[in-house]
Amino acid sequence: RHRLLLENAQQLVLVCGRGEEYLRRDGAASLALLPGASLVVGLDGCIKAVGQADAIRNQFSGATFERIIDCSGKCVLPGLVDAHTHPVWAGDRVHEFAMKLAGASYMEIHQAGGGIHFTVEHTRKASEEELFNTFKHRLERMRRAGSTLVECKSGYGLNLETELKMLRVIERAKQSMDIGISSTYCGAHSVPRGKTATEATDDIINNHLPKLKELKLSGEIHVNNIDVFCEKGVFDLDSTRRILQAGKDIGLQINFHGDELHPMKSAELGAELGARAISHLEEISDEGITAMARAKCAAVLLPTTAYMLRLKQPPARKMLEEGVIVALGSDFNPNAYCFSMVSHSSYLNQHELMKSLTCTTYPMVMHLACVNMKMSMNEALAAATINAAYALGKSDTHGSIETGKQGDLVIINSSRWEHLIYQFGGHEALIDYVIVKGKVV
Ligand code: NIG
Ligand code: FE
Repeated sequence: RHRLLLENAQQLVLVCGRGEEYLRRDGAASLALLPGASLVVGLDGCIKAVGQADAIRNQFSGATFERIIDCSGKCVLPGLVDAHTHPVWAGDRVHEFAMKLAGASYMEIHQAGGGIHFTVEHTRKASEEELFNTFKHRLERMRRAGSTLVECKSGYGLNLETELKMLRVIERAKQSMDIGISSTYCGAHSVPRGKTATEATDDIINNHLPKLKELKLSGEIHVNNIDVFCEKGVFDLDSTRRILQAGKDIGLQINFHGDELHPMKSAELGAELGARAISHLEEISDEGITAMARAKCAAVLLPTTAYMLRLKQPPARKMLEEGVIVALGSDFNPNAYCFSMVSHSSYLNQHELMKSLTCTTYPMVMHLACVNMKMSMNEALAAATINAAYALGKSDTHGSIETGKQGDLVIINSSRWEHLIYQFGGHEALIDYVIVKGKVV
């Protein structure tokens, strides 16, 4: 008995790579396409077999399946991996959008007490239940758009109490929802009002991190990554180094914001500290690119932010040519709010409501990466699957279709997989099924 049989897909996109064999640049062998393919997911949620439809039919002739999906005329892809999101917060920043359109920069708004500070104020006031409910809804929408593994950051608390509240909310979703989550402590997202950067750094190292260690040991909250916003006027290179090193010392993977608005040598620092990934990198130096390639430190590029803030694009092509592992993330946050809220019409039941949502987030990110960062569609798909899984330290189990990996899949109603990137907007009509551990979600 098995959980799922996908039969006779027009194209099945395997994506290459396991563990360290991530895909670095476009090439003939970069994406393996299987025509006329079938796939079996076992009761353990892992992929049992993948191959030609006839061969799978023979191999599983006497078997029973909890669910069979006829994929004729459709494409099967690995579930998408979103390597960077800030999805737990209260309040939105629509008023700041108008300010930005009128010419205010991200940092001007931040320094005037808005931006992250505004969100911190609202998130501190929100109840845990309220935060969980909006977060859950956001995760459902991300999943509807094909994301099956999502990195989720804290970072709108800054004080220990609210950071822990956010991390508990993330932990609760980890335990209760059918979606993969990699959680990130981002208490150094901004310097809290009334503190200097040095005081905030000391507080994190002396109070926050020991508490996280304790909660991990007691099994209450298991955080995966540590993040810092390494930026001029936020945390400088020295504070960033201290925080990241202290996080690494308690077993967290380093995964931080760097070289976004100003060249900070964040990439060089990350490579030196053994960071798993660095995000943004619009202002990375040539030396930083070389260092990241050598250190196998993934670059998580965020096309929505560069677009929203009209920043210069990160040098994706140069990174790819130099052998950097390029991944993608949606950076979903109140600054780059990339899916539209829908009004809850009373006649819609929950299922119809979910179907009616326009969930364009992550496929849109791949589209932007191709158009604005000049990545190929193969590169964008690898960046949004296997390389993003690598950035989270999960490429052994996620990010590609291979026997033994988790059965996380996306089925699109098109005979060519590229439609997932080519079409922008309206993905609810294109994505037929999203599958997590062999279960249609
Ligand atoms: O990745 N740059 C810092 N952090 C976020 C933005 C967070 C916010 O503005 O609320 C980012 O873009
Ligand atoms: Fe971010």
